[in-house]
Formats: sequence, structure tokens, C-alpha cells
Amino acid sequence: MHARRFRPSGPLLGTLRVPGDKSISHRALMLSALAVGESRISDMLEGEDVLATAAALRAMGATIERDRMGDWLVHGVGVGSLLQPRAALEMGNSGTSTRLLMGLIASHAITATFTGDASLSKRPMGRVTEPLSLMGAEITASPGGTLPLMIRGMCPAVPIEYRLPVASAQVKSAVLLAGLNTPGITTVIEPVPTRDHSERMLKGFGADLEVEEQQGTRIIRIRGEAELQPRTIVVPGDPSSAAFFVTAALLVPGSDVLIENVGLNPTRAGLFSVLRAMGGRIEEVNPREVGGEPVADLRVTHSPLSGIAVDPALAPSMIDEFPILFVAAALAEGTTVTSGLDELRVKESDRLAVMAAALAAAGARVEEREDGLVIHGTGGEPLSGTPENGQPIATHLDHRIAMSMAIAGLASASGVEVDDTTPIGTSFPGFEGLLDGLCA
Ligand code: S3P
Repeated sequence: MHARRFRPSGPLLGTLRVPGDKSISHRALMLSALAVGESRISDMLEGEDVLATAAALRAMGATIERDRMGDWLVHGVGVGSLLQPRAALEMGNSGTSTRLLMGLIASHAITATFTGDASLSKRPMGRVTEPLSLMGAEITASPGGTLPLMIRGMCPAVPIEYRLPVASAQVKSAVLLAGLNTPGITTVIEPVPTRDHSERMLKGFGADLEVEEQQGTRIIRIRGEAELQPRTIVVPGDPSSAAFFVTAALLVPGSDVLIENVGLNPTRAGLFSVLRAMGGRIEEVNPREVGGEPVADLRVTHSPLSGIAVDPALAPSMIDEFPILFVAAALAEGTTVTSGLDELRVKESDRLAVMAAALAAAGARVEEREDGLVIHGTGGEPLSGTPENGQPIATHLDHRIAMSMAIAGLASASGVEVDDTTPIGTSFPGFEGLLDGLCA
């Protein structure tokens, strides 16, 4: 545990880059590990979650090394050739590693055990064990359908047509990855679109995948027994990491920052449209494409914000950004209403309950509802902050709670004390250094 008090700051000024996208980094490693030959990944996120994926893929036969320039070189084993890992796969805090790797293993003739930290061990795995069982995998989970869990893959697996019961890119990706080594066509029907990095990257590696749109529903078909070609991948900056600096610059008077190379895939960029609708000045400079994904630099200047009713249809495109949106709402003029956010209760922590308690402790006016928060903003006045020598904010092993409340601290009168900053390393190593640099 490493507690820290984040104190009110002067304006954030300067230019920065955030680390590579977490979702894309996981997928780049996994598909490279299944290609035949050497892939190169540049600007990969070196957070603990992604390193857990790398370690698991090594344990199943891939060779993964970092060169002196910081690129990652992966020698894949080929689809169908993952090896039996000798020890349990330790997933740490990472739901994405766990659920996507379960998909890969489901159609290989190997058995693996997954373990995780206290946060991950509470998270529901039934959402992936259900479709993967239909494909033939045998899964024994702990009571409640959680980790530790053992999965025995089936080869050949059975292709399925699966309609997603929850809007989850992890479940979609688990089924598509299982489909890679399954004879015939595996189909995922997605009534609510979620991040499409898996689809983009599977195509980029040469998989036979097509996406059909029917009145807002996406039907994704992948032909199995695929042969993937090795690739060179450049990972764009993570919009979910940029979100903290975008919000900080909007909230702290006098701020003016340029965040370079931010991924702006429409299935991820919901927060930026909501902040703009609240009055935030966020300008996209030099739009371009990096690694098959839309990217731009974001120039953000301090802006007075107004409360808003957030359209629940936007939730999947900003699902990880609600904690920081709640901080923005706490300083806006008027009331912000969010709804349709049941999924936030099963993230790294129960983000509705934890953020309601955290913001209230820092002096915000918050009401917690079943599926969202209602926040009455200060109209730009700093939050009071948490009392000196009082209880710190409980982050519950959740990196995004820690970073969100750090930003709340900058926009407070007396600072906000966070109980533990170590979980930040799962997705954003270097966060504190970057923040301290911009505020100096
Ligand atoms: C992710 C999907 C989302 C997101 C998570 C990363 C992914 O989870 O919250 O941080 O990389 O596919 P769900 O699929 O559970 O919504």
C-alpha cells in the first residue's frame, strides 16, 4: 500500500503522451502469439495487466522479448499449437487477460488454471464460461463462478452462434478468439456495439472475419482454423488514460495541455463528446491513423462545465471513463444524471458505490442510484477535499478510482488523500510522474 495526498495545483501546462492502449496491447500480444513467425509491437503498454498476458502466453509456448529500443518481439506458435502451461496462470488484477485467454484456451487441447488478486477473484466469469462451455470447453470455477478457475479446452471445438446478453467486448472477444481454432464459422451477435479492436486486429492479422450491421445490431462471423500472418503493430495512446489529463486540464483554471497520439476509435471516445457537450474545450489536432485505429492530438484548455443527462446509449463507448466523468460532474454547474450503468458494479471495484463514497468524502454532493449516480456540481468552486489526518479514500485495488480521485485532489481546496496508488501500475505506469511534471 502506498498512500498519497494529491494537493491543489496551479495550471497544467505543456505537452505529454500517455502510454499505449491497454485493450489493443493485450490483443496485439495474443494475436502475435498465434501467428507463425515474428511480430513486432511498438509503443505497447507496459502495465502489469498487459505483462500478465505476456507471461501467460510465454507459459503456453510463445517467445516474447523486449528489445533495446523498447519494441516487443513475439515469436508465435501458430493457431492450434498453444502448449499446456506447467503452472497456474497468475492474472493479477486483469479481467481482460483472464477472459480473452480463456477464449484462446477453450479451443485448444490444453488445460489451465487461472488465479487473480482479491479484486479479480470477485468478478463474474459466468459471462465467458457460458459461451465457451457451449463450444465444448469444460470449466470448473469457484463458487459464484469466480476465480480460481480451471478450464479444459476442446479440440475440435463446436462453432456457435452467440447473442451477447451483456454489452461486453471481453465476452465478444473471448468467443471470437475461441472461434480462431474452431472448424467452421463462429458467430457473435452484438445488439449494443462495444469496442471493436478485436475485429480490426483479427482482420489485420489475416483472419477471415466479416461484420454485418442490421439496424444497429452487429453480426460478426469468423472462419476458424485460421492461419495468422505475423505483423508490425504500432499501439496508439490509450484514450482511457488520456481521460484523466483531459479532465484535469478542463477543471484546473489556467490549464492548457496538448496530449499527443490519443486513440479516438468511435467505440472508445464517448467521454470526449460528453465533456464537449458539458462545455469542455477539447480540440482534435492532426487526425491520422495509427495501427489501423483513428488517432489525433488533443488540445485541452480550462473550461467552465455544465451538468448534463448522459445518454445511457453512450455507456459502452466510455465504460471505463465514468469514474473521471463523475469528478468532472462534481465541479460542473448544475446536476449531472447518469443511468444504465449496472456494468460499473462489476469492474475492478463497484465503481458506482466506491465513487459515490469517495466523492462524498471529498465534499461533493452525490446520490447513488441502482444504475447510476446523480451529482450536484459546485459550479467550479473547488471541492473541500478530505480532512488532513482523516480517513483516506478507499480505492479497493481499482486503478481508475485512484487516478480519478488524484484529479479530484488537484481541483480541491485542501487536497485528497488516496489510500493506495500502487494499483495505478496495472494500466498507467508513470501517471504520477507525468501529473507532477505538468503541474510544476
Ligand atoms: C475491455 C472491455 C471492457 C473494459 C475493460 C477492457 C477490453 O470490459 O471495461 O477495461 O479490452 O475488451 P467489458 O467487456 O467487461 O465491458
